[in-house]
Amino acid sequence: MTDSTKPAATLTLAGSNKSLSLPMLDASIGPTVLDIRKLYDTLGVFTYDPGFGATASCESKITYIDGDAGVLLYRGYPIEQLAEHSDFLEICYLLLNGDLPNATQRDEFNRGVMRHTMLHEQIRRFWDGFRRDAHPMAVMCGVVGAMAAFYHDSVDITNEEHRRIAAFRLIAKVPTIAAWAYKYSIGQPFIYPRNDLGYAENFLYMMQAVPCEDYKLSPVLAKAMDRLFILHADHEQNASTSTVRLAGSTGANPFACIAAGIAALWGPAHGGANEAVLKMLAEIGNKKNIPEFIRKVKDKNSSVRLMGFGHRVYKNYDPRAKIMQKTCHEVLNELGIKNEPLLDLAVELERIALEDEYFVQRRLYPNVDFYSGIILKAMGIPTPMFTVLFAVARTVGWVSQWKEMIEDPSQRLGRPRQIYTGPTQRDYVPVGKRA
Ligand code: CMC
Repeated sequence: MTDSTKPAATLTLAGSNKSLSLPMLDASIGPTVLDIRKLYDTLGVFTYDPGFGATASCESKITYIDGDAGVLLYRGYPIEQLAEHSDFLEICYLLLNGDLPNATQRDEFNRGVMRHTMLHEQIRRFWDGFRRDAHPMAVMCGVVGAMAAFYHDSVDITNEEHRRIAAFRLIAKVPTIAAWAYKYSIGQPFIYPRNDLGYAENFLYMMQAVPCEDYKLSPVLAKAMDRLFILHADHEQNASTSTVRLAGSTGANPFACIAAGIAALWGPAHGGANEAVLKMLAEIGNKKNIPEFIRKVKDKNSSVRLMGFGHRVYKNYDPRAKIMQKTCHEVLNELGIKNEPLLDLAVELERIALEDEYFVQRRLYPNVDFYSGIILKAMGIPTPMFTVLFAVARTVGWVSQWKEMIEDPSQRLGRPRQIYTGPTQRDYVPVGKRA
């Protein structure tokens, strides 16, 4: 971040002779940022930006999105190139360390992560405390948070080695927790990880294998899962990442911070959207019902939204959605599914929405979740697990952003301000004297 010497703007308060020149901070790409850090001390005013639509909360070198052009870069590399040529563990290295690994670094990193896939055996007992029908995201929040109670040798955030091991543990163990959350819900025995498998392969193995049968996995499906992980790995300062950073800014341990991120991801406006897309498609049921559904979406008196459409940052086609759509066709081909009614419905829904003035005017396009649910369903992943897969993939993004924040000397406790519009000071009235 370059601090330009020339002031970018001068702010003068109406009716006052006080003014402040606001320096400009240069981004390597993307909009220039006005530095308002001296605003309150100098002018005594706050800024108001609910939802942080125009506020940069931190400096970051990890991920860049150009929402107007539909561009997503991890450490400068376009997502399309990474999805085509890379694999998830290499992306983990890239996000955590800033550059792609050479062959030795890659092997060492892969071994390092995969050596940590098992959970402390006592963590298994946590599952006995969960109801059988617990949503797997509830299990994820609980068990990931509980990791701090087991891995005391990686909770000192001031120690670089602790941070490194915590990152490995989180990336390696989250798939095990996720797969076991699923196994528990269907009453099947937990399957222990296999470190000779790839990251996505191992996850599918733990979710789908049973002890009484050989397990065979199609490389096409493993590749599709790996790609899905790549596409979800990071997405700059979204709600869950900001939650992780805010929790981390207090000095909380990494496992607690990632549990906070998982909780924030759960909502339907964020990671829960892929689950919501499938529910929506099931409710629409048939192409002939699309116009009526679109009418409800556009009706301001209804709270119905076209799930999998729209994004806070993308005002163009989400580049991840394009890759998802292609992957969707590959997966269906591999599985020999010639006709998937949900995909037909989704394609038609997209076509109608993209031609509709309501969506055109508001620049609402398909996002990453529009097609991912169809892929996952075809692969036999149950709907409640969709957001869990997102959490598995996003863990590396959260950890990278958390680590970047901890290692940034300018980082401070996150503490937003507010416009208070409640009652002004008043005196306590005993209950007997209240109207
Ligand atoms: N369906 C219908 N109308 C929409 C939609 C939608 N999916 N998204 C936005 N709008 C309308 C909204 O009603 C508003 O209209 P108006 O100006 O007339 O009041 C306008 O578009 C702007 O919407 P907003 O709610 O101010 O925009 P936002 O940036 O706060 O919302 C969003 C972003 C993702 C929450 C929203 O687009 C949405 O709810 N989409 C559906 C849920 C979804 O697919 N979420 C996954 C996001 S991608 C995965 C991730 O990163 O987590």
